[in-house]
Amino acid sequence: MQEIGQLNSNQKNLFSHLTQAPSDAIFAIMNAYKADTSENKIDLGVGAYRTDEEKPYVFDVVKKIEQEIVNDPSLNKEYLEIEGLPEFNKGCQILLFGKDNPLITSGRIVTAQCLGGTGALRVGFDFVKRHLQGDVYVSNPTWGNHNQILDRVGLNQINYPYYDPITKGFNCKATLDCLSQAKEGSIILLHVCAHNPTGVDPTEDEWLQIADVCKTRNLIPFFDCAYQGFASGCLDKDVFAVRKFAELGFQMIIAYSFSKNMGLYNERVGAIHILTSSQDIATKVLSNLKMVIRTLYSCPPAIGGRIVSRILCNDNYYQQWVQELNVITGRIIKMRSLLKNELDNLNVQGNWDHIIKQTGFFTFTGLTPQQCDQLTQDHHVYLLRSGRMSMAGITSKNVKQLVEAIKIVVQNK
Ligand code: LMR
Repeated sequence: MQEIGQLNSNQKNLFSHLTQAPSDAIFAIMNAYKADTSENKIDLGVGAYRTDEEKPYVFDVVKKIEQEIVNDPSLNKEYLEIEGLPEFNKGCQILLFGKDNPLITSGRIVTAQCLGGTGALRVGFDFVKRHLQGDVYVSNPTWGNHNQILDRVGLNQINYPYYDPITKGFNCKATLDCLSQAKEGSIILLHVCAHNPTGVDPTEDEWLQIADVCKTRNLIPFFDCAYQGFASGCLDKDVFAVRKFAELGFQMIIAYSFSKNMGLYNERVGAIHILTSSQDIATKVLSNLKMVIRTLYSCPPAIGGRIVSRILCNDNYYQQWVQELNVITGRIIKMRSLLKNELDNLNVQGNWDHIIKQTGFFTFTGLTPQQCDQLTQDHHVYLLRSGRMSMAGITSKNVKQLVEAIKIVVQNK
């Protein structure tokens, strides 16, 4: 075997000035859970679906299409277009904006296939940094990676109040007050539904008020849509905000993820949409978006995009997907009431109504960081220190153990 040579003594120790970067909070919890050898551990950390047997889930329709792709002699490994598969992009537009929306045929929507929701956000904010500038208003709190991406891209972030810790709901007034002071041309990052981490969404009426202030202050909506289907259980209803803003004439950006609603986490499939004012401008926007993508990763990988397009473009597969998605969202909704009932049955101190009022993948429990630490250290329950719990990790079998643990840490406060 070849020996490792001596370091070049003329060269300074090249990386010695680096300090240890913090580990990503969500991935760190995922790894701590994996490393725990207890049989009773409970995974409420990462937002990834689990069956009632605590197992990851691959959609049957996805497995079927994967086989079809493997056996399809017409496919090869040639590069895709920079913006991805055309049928993927068209299917994504229809899913988000609705099949009968005249925008679909208007040529005003620019779409590109991206590497998951994170990839779409990164591409979108790179584009913003280069072509729009402006401060970016982010909800307080928001998904931690939003802050990191904006930081890396070099855009200035300003928090808008969103979550009310007293009501454990949406603080509409404070949000509107803050946004009505925003500088014209600022970008506002909005979660389309199933807000991460709070599970708290504006009502339809509140969305209209947000739209109003965006119009008055000339703010640019940047939507993150990572949970279509998980809030109300209805794909159309969940994207009310996007469709309404489009109807109201906004030009805007939407980052979309298929990680959760098609269970394609490690395939990294998402999309960026930019709704422009005309077909002519859309052409120019696309050319610039392609520059961003080409310099980041050239073009997207094919398998995930092919799976999604086959689901979105084939009626049979689409129906199968919706059915499976309904089972998943149904189980999560059931776990909310199960958890709430168990907490009430065991007389756990406090009011837990917010568990059934909040929607989507997560509950923002209101547990303190210390209580969360104690849940992890003493009871093998893994959740974010912010008190965010992934409802998808709760099962009919582990809920009792979880509630007993919560009871102990709440009493100890
Ligand atoms: C989460 O918030 O847990 C998910 O969106 C997974 C991730 O990438 O953070």
